[in-house]
Amino acid sequence: MRRIAGKAARLMRDSMTNEVGAHIFVCTNKSEPECLQRRLFGTSKLYADDALMTRSGDLLFLLNITSNVLHGIFRAKSNGRKDIAPEAWKGKYPYQVEIEPLGNVQTIENAKKTLQKLGIEWHKPLTEPMTQQLLGLFAPNGSRLIKRTVESTPWGLLAPEKTRTRQGRMNAIKATNMPHEEKPTLEATTLWDYPRQSYGKTPKGNNKYPGVTPAFIIWNLLQRYTDPNDLVLDPMCGSGTTIDVCTEEGRRVICYDIAPTRPDILENDSRTIPLPDDHVDMMFVDSPYGDNIRYNDNPNCIGKISSETEDFYAELEKVIKECHRVLKPGKVIGWLIGDQWVKKKFTPVGFRVYEILGRYFETVDVICVVRRGQSSNTGIWYSRARRFNFFLRGFKYLFIMRKPSGTVIEAKKRTVKWAYYDRDKSKADSS
Ligand SMILES: C[S@@+](CC[C@H](N)C(=O)[O-])C[C@H]1O[C@@H](n2cnc3c(N)ncnc32)[C@H](O)[C@@H]1O
Repeated sequence: MRRIAGKAARLMRDSMTNEVGAHIFVCTNKSEPECLQRRLFGTSKLYADDALMTRSGDLLFLLNITSNVLHGIFRAKSNGRKDIAPEAWKGKYPYQVEIEPLGNVQTIENAKKTLQKLGIEWHKPLTEPMTQQLLGLFAPNGSRLIKRTVESTPWGLLAPEKTRTRQGRMNAIKATNMPHEEKPTLEATTLWDYPRQSYGKTPKGNNKYPGVTPAFIIWNLLQRYTDPNDLVLDPMCGSGTTIDVCTEEGRRVICYDIAPTRPDILENDSRTIPLPDDHVDMMFVDSPYGDNIRYNDNPNCIGKISSETEDFYAELEKVIKECHRVLKPGKVIGWLIGDQWVKKKFTPVGFRVYEILGRYFETVDVICVVRRGQSSNTGIWYSRARRFNFFLRGFKYLFIMRKPSGTVIEAKKRTVKWAYYDRDKSKADSS
């Protein structure tokens, strides 16, 4: 194995023993000067999950895809967050991390090919062996690749803070280094599947609560449809999963339930929400799907009404109407709901609720969330479903709906151009 000397060797040892993560951020000739001036790396929503996984103390590299050079080594001075400097890059790269150089910044040329050879994909967290190989490239005499110290370029001006000795910098890495907190993945498709209810070191809601929501769902909605400090409302929040996810992500949150389970949940019947019109930036609702679960003994719990009755939909419509009233125009509500199959009878609860939501909101998208962790998720129920010829519920719907922004855009009158094709007689005869 190649001998790696000096600073890189020590960084490598730290990356192996202290769980220091490593990430490559990407820039272009156009965006590079702002990285330098602001001491900030940023990326778009597309690569947000890696940026958000960055923790203070992690090692960073910057790949300029226009000039095909890799700059390094940097250290994250903050955790990855959205909008550290909202005005940077005109808001194009809002998932950001503050950085500082570790020693003189060095540059490796022909970087894309080098990374490809090492099996490194940009925007994906670097594994420990990848980090070691990269650090090796930056080590003195560590690489036969063209490498230059860039005192003559603007990066050369990024000298490390004067008060810090090399040992001081290494200690700083150790001191700020916290074990990596797991963050969910930003979903890219309409199929969401979560084997666990929660993520990270702190619980989100209570996974023993009947019908508790997977915290990953709320996290994904927050990333896509809110900004830090936005106000989120969950009017039926059960064990408080929405509160915990919002708090960790720096969103303000109001949560109600007919039977509060903790002091930060306010008691309220969601058919009347005590908030002004057009007040909140996002809503999440995981409502009862019928009377299949006993949530509490409160007679006003909608979970006491069977979804086989019209009453159930009439009461949910009151909630939906209130949600529409308090949500700001143009903002999003996520509504999680499942169908019912009880005593040989299927009830399309999801379709019914979607139809009501459609009276008030525009559809952004419909997500299929795989159902796990329910009481029928046992071998005995699987064998019953096969023997008695029925299906267990395998998914829920997450309806993502938007309150119309108020400006009614006249639908353009469409003229339909009909094309006529002569029928191929020989094919028609043979069919
Ligand atoms: C599926 S649970 C919500 C689970 C929650 N998201 C969590 O992660 O713990 C549905 C909740 O709706 C509440 N609920 C039912 N009827 C209500 C009403 N009229 N007003 C407010 N909350 C109500 C129930 O008490 C229950 O906690």
